[in-house]
Formats: sequence, C-alpha cells, structure tokens
Amino acid sequence: MPTAQSETAENKVFSVVGRPIPRVDGPLKVSGTATYTSDHNFPGMLYAVPVPSTIAKGTIATLDTSAAEKMPGVRAVFHRQNIGRFFRVPPNADFSIVIDERRPPFEDDTIRYYGQYVAVAVADSLEQAQAAADAVKLTYREETPDVRSKLTQEQEPTVGSQRGDAAGTFNSAPVKIDETYVTPVETHNPIELHATVAVWDGTTFTLYETTQAVKNHQLAVSAMLGVPPEKVRIVSRFLGSGFGGKLWPWTHDVLAAAASRHLDRPVKLVVSRKMMFQAVGHRPLTQQRIRLGATANGKLVSTQHDSLNHSSILDDYDEGCSEATPHLYRCPNLRVTNGVVHLNVGTPTSMRGPGAVPGLFALESAMDELAVKLDIDPVELRLRNDTEIDEGLNLPFTSRHLKECLTVGAEKFGWHQRTPAVGSMKKDGLILGWGMAAATWIANRLDCKATIDLKADGSVRVACGTQDIGTGTYTMLAQMVGEALGIDPDKIEVVLGDSALPTGPLSGGSMVTASLVPAVLEAAKKASQKAQFAATTTGPFSGQSAANLLFSNGRIHRKDQSPAEGVPYEQVLQAAKVSSVSGSGSSQGDFTDILGLTKPKLSSHSFGAQFVEVTWQPEIARLRVNRVLTVIDAGRIINPRTGRNQIEGAVVMGVGMALFEHTTYDDQHHGAPINSNLADYVVSTNADAPEIDVVFLDYPDTHLNAFGARGIGEIGLAGVAPAIASAVYHATGVRVRELPIRIEDLIS
Ligand code: MOS
Repeated sequence: MPTAQSETAENKVFSVVGRPIPRVDGPLKVSGTATYTSDHNFPGMLYAVPVPSTIAKGTIATLDTSAAEKMPGVRAVFHRQNIGRFFRVPPNADFSIVIDERRPPFEDDTIRYYGQYVAVAVADSLEQAQAAADAVKLTYREETPDVRSKLTQEQEPTVGSQRGDAAGTFNSAPVKIDETYVTPVETHNPIELHATVAVWDGTTFTLYETTQAVKNHQLAVSAMLGVPPEKVRIVSRFLGSGFGGKLWPWTHDVLAAAASRHLDRPVKLVVSRKMMFQAVGHRPLTQQRIRLGATANGKLVSTQHDSLNHSSILDDYDEGCSEATPHLYRCPNLRVTNGVVHLNVGTPTSMRGPGAVPGLFALESAMDELAVKLDIDPVELRLRNDTEIDEGLNLPFTSRHLKECLTVGAEKFGWHQRTPAVGSMKKDGLILGWGMAAATWIANRLDCKATIDLKADGSVRVACGTQDIGTGTYTMLAQMVGEALGIDPDKIEVVLGDSALPTGPLSGGSMVTASLVPAVLEAAKKASQKAQFAATTTGPFSGQSAANLLFSNGRIHRKDQSPAEGVPYEQVLQAAKVSSVSGSGSSQGDFTDILGLTKPKLSSHSFGAQFVEVTWQPEIARLRVNRVLTVIDAGRIINPRTGRNQIEGAVVMGVGMALFEHTTYDDQHHGAPINSNLADYVVSTNADAPEIDVVFLDYPDTHLNAFGARGIGEIGLAGVAPAIASAVYHATGVRVRELPIRIEDLIS
C-alpha cells in the first residue's frame, strides 16, 4: 500500500482521492478468502434445483413428482400446489421497489417462456436435488411460441422527446440517412452464477444473495413473501460481477426462501449457466430506425430515432434506446420513440449501459454513414454538431467536454494520418480500418446514508448498505474516508453488502461513487466533531471550546496550530476513555430527475470518444480489433487504477458486443435460447482484447458532489460497437447494421 503523504511531509495536506491505490479487497480475492454468496454453508443445509419448463408457450397438463419424491435424500419437491402463496410487487413509479419479472414463480399453470420454473426439488446433496429435478415428469399443452428476431410494431410507440418538426425538415433536408440498425439479445455472463442461500430461523429470513441492490432486494423479496421488510435481511459481501443482471430479484430467490421456511433448514440454490440464459434477464433485441437530415456542410437539421425492443409476455421492459439521442448533438428538429413487442422470452433487464449502449450503436453508426455520404471526416462531423446545452431538456450541462474527448482522442490516436477511402490504409500486409464514435452516459446520484466510527485503537470503520459488484466500491470508500479525515486507507475498514446497514445506493447506472460522496463527507465531519468534543473533556485540550479545534491529517489541533502540532485522534479518545465516536451522513439523490418525477436544473452526463483500429486480412477472412483508444470525461477520477480497469473491461466487452455476443432462440422447435453455455455464447477473451489506451479528462463535476466524481461503470462500453463497425466499413467497404458483425457479412 502507498503511504500517505502526510506521514513524511508534516504540513503537506493529506490527499488520497485521485491516487491509483490497489484494491483494498484484492488480497481477500486473490487468496480465495472473499466470501461470495454460494460460498456460504451452514449445518444441515439443503440444496435446491429448479425444474425449468421445456416449452415456451402453453400450459402444464400434468406434473408428477411421485418418483422424484421417493428418491434418496429428497426432502421435498415444491410446485404450485404446495409451495404456498407469493405476492406480486405492486408497480411503483418512483423506483422505490424494482423488479423486472413481476409474476411470482408458480403463480399459474401458464408457460410464457422457455425455462420458466415449474417446480423445485430440495435434497440433502446437490446431486440428489439435480436427479430429483430431472425425475419430475411434466406434460404440456404446447402452443407455437413467438420468439422471432424481426420485430414489428404492435402498439403506438411512446414519444421519448421531441422538438421542432422532425418529419418535415427531414423531407426537405439536402442530405439524408434512413437506416435500421439491429442489436441482438445479449445475455449477462458474469462468472459468478446467480445464487441464493436462504436461512430461516423461525421468524426471520437471512438471504445471502447475488444482488447489486441489497436494500431493494430486501423490499422486493419481503413483498413477494408477504412478510414485513424487517423480517428479511439480505447479505451480499462480494459479487463476481453482475452487469445489471443482478440488479433486481428473480424468481429463484423466493423459491429458496420458501423452501427454507417449509423445511426449517438452510437452503442453497445456485442457478446453472444454462438457466442464466432463461430466467434472470438479458439485454433485449433492439431494432432502431434512424433518420438524419443534414445540410451539405454537415449540420444536422433533423433527427428521428424510432426503436423497438422485445419484452416478455407479461412485462413491459423498455430498453429506452434513444436515451442519449436528444442531448448528444445540436439539432433543432428531433423526435424519438420507443415501442415494446411482447414475445415468449424471459423478462429482459438492464445490461451495462441499458438504452444508450444499443442506442449509440444505431445513432453513431448513422453519423458515420452521414460522414461518408457528405465526405466529411467523422470527427469533424461530430465537432460541427457539438452543443453547448442539452436541447432535450433545454438545460445547460453540469460539465460537458465531448469536444475535447474528440480532439484529444484524434490527436493521441494519430487520426490525421487516416485516409478516408475504403481499404486505403495498409500495414504489414494487413488492411487497416479506422473508426470512431462519441459516447455518453447519465451521471446521477441516489439517496445514500453512511456511518463512520473513529475508534480509540486507531482504526476507522465506515458502513454503508451499498455493495461492490467487483468494480472497486470498497476501495473507493476507503479513499473517500481517508481523504475526508486525513487517515491512511489501510486503517479503514469498509463494511458493505448488508441490508441491515444504513441504506446505500444500488450498484447500477454508474451512480454509486457519486452517491457516496456527500453522505461520507457528512459522516466524517460529524465523527470528527465528536472526537473534537471528546478532546475538550480531558487531556491537552481540556477546557477549551470544541469550536477552536480542528481535525485534519488524523489529528486534533487548535486552529492556530499546524496539524503536526496536534494530537492523533486515537490518543485523544484514549485519554477521554471513549472507545469510539460515530457520525452519520445522509444525502438525497437526484435520480428522480431522470424518471421525470422532479424537474432537473441542469443536465448531468458523462462523455467520451472511442477510436478503433481493426486489421482485415481478406485472403483468410480474418478480422481483429487491434487497438482502441478511449477518452473519458467523467469528472474527477477517485482512483485512476480501478478507473482504468473499468474502462478496459468495458472496451473488451464492447469487442464482444460488436463481434460475438448473440443469444439465439430456437424458433423451429420449443423456443429455447439454444446457445445457452459459454462454449456457444461467445464473449471476448484475453486473446480477443485489443491494445487499450484510456485517457481521463480531469474536469471535476462539482454540481454532483464535492469531489466532482461521476461514475464510470458504463460509459466505457458506450460507443465501442459503432466505432468498431465504422472501422470495419473503412477496412472492407461493408456496412454492417446488425450486430454481431460476422465473417459471413464481410466475404462476398
Ligand atoms: Mo448497470 S446495467 O446499471 O448494473
């Protein structure tokens, strides 16, 4: 661990925010001692294995558990007739309890998607439970499922945003683009499977969960179980990632809880990789028509973005593909709409950068097509259409540096060497393709509470009911508290991942880091004030007014003294015979702004630019993403090491989005997601990873919080796929408008 500057230079102001410290939970993870959900084991614990339906549409005709129940070690086989009642979470507009698949498991005998759970077997061992689940006999009245991959509008779409006369100005525009872009179903594949370990103690559930939102999970699961929230505690100490798939509860959660209550034993349920493709969400299929109208010198005069996405039969999951379209460029006439088409698939959910990421594939691909048509450099086209205000909300931005992302990126990438003609750039016998795209993602805060304890043994504890999905929240919190108190992050214990802690933000929408700052700063201030007060009761400062004292560099000192002349706070607490002092902080978020529930005063977004080099070998039809440069404008970066890591991971994911990821449903047979394993569903690996360069612009966004930090979990994926598709066009002359880009698309 790095040492704090203050320890060597006495009067130098201690600062740890902005430093690339290694992850504080790294040693636990690399030594295998971090306890993930399915690592929890309890005496007498049973194993649950769900029985998924093998049709996608129809009804259950017969369900026979008799053979399964008689098998060795089997404790019970639960189904609609014997599990008891679950309740639907009522719809709520204010985001206070969220669940995407609203129908509780076993609610009726209707099957609406392949893999919908129809029973769950519980046994002494995993193998016995699996065997029993396999032995449950089902017959169905099967109907032909609708799992098509081409969408047609079913109902009037929702108008997301509009200004001016988009249709009229498009018709009269000198230059037009009118194309449809498709992104396929993508499935979240965190290496950690979804899991629940349910422990019922006779009055209360403790659920060890793979969740990105312990508090929401507590509220939603208690509502589904029909018990008060205080009877459900959710624990999620470490997550092997989630990508949005673990934001909200899924139906297996309450199956495990109910089984534990029925059998009065702890129950572990781990969703299989195959089931991960069925009943725990996915990014839906999107089909997006983009119409751009421009002047001959490349000024946008009209933008229309009409998107459709699929949802399940019962739920209206709206991907919101046009989220970024109203504010990314200046354009006087705009209209964006979203429509939902209901298919026999599991309920979709948020996946890294929901809305904007598939949306920008369409919009930024269309911008590249416009640049080609106009014979204007694609960077220059974006610069000509940059905007000072968010024209969608008609509000100024808190901080927008897209222009600088573009110019810095172009400079560092060497963009001026690009020759625009298709296939005109070559290196080492390979054809080079260079493409780029702009990126943006929301920047908001959620409500947050946090508590800080300063202890007489010199340690500090910070607690917050948020969680770390693997991105570095433990580390970030240690840095924030360290910064606020002038204490080395090594001495700070960070406690997360428990609904019993002060309510923290969900780990989604890239909002955690920004949300933590105000609550943590307030908690630190209150805790240090209490330490100052303790100092006035005895010892070197006794009898003095607490108002004359300061707390800095971990020391208490008089205002007329330097920190170095002060007394370490733990010595003050020891002298006062106080074992610890505690401070709580609480802050209100601004997230309701983007739900349209409150009126925002400013528009707050992150920005970025992606520059991509692909290599193309037509002789052997080999395409490779060779090099990616990402420039990110996301406020102040709390930790450049974990920050860079986030963006690098997102870029690698973007390579998968552009070239590989695609969940295929079997529309000839029973509607199953057929490539439901990591061999057939291809994600990009180390071997596919390009050389990645990440540049952070450093413009603190102090409207969002005192540190000026935004979030960076999602922005790194935005723009990668369209930049790759544009680079592929530059190399090959083939414009691929349907992801993933396949070799078949490129050979004639
Ligand atoms: Mo992210 S899709 O908000 O976990």
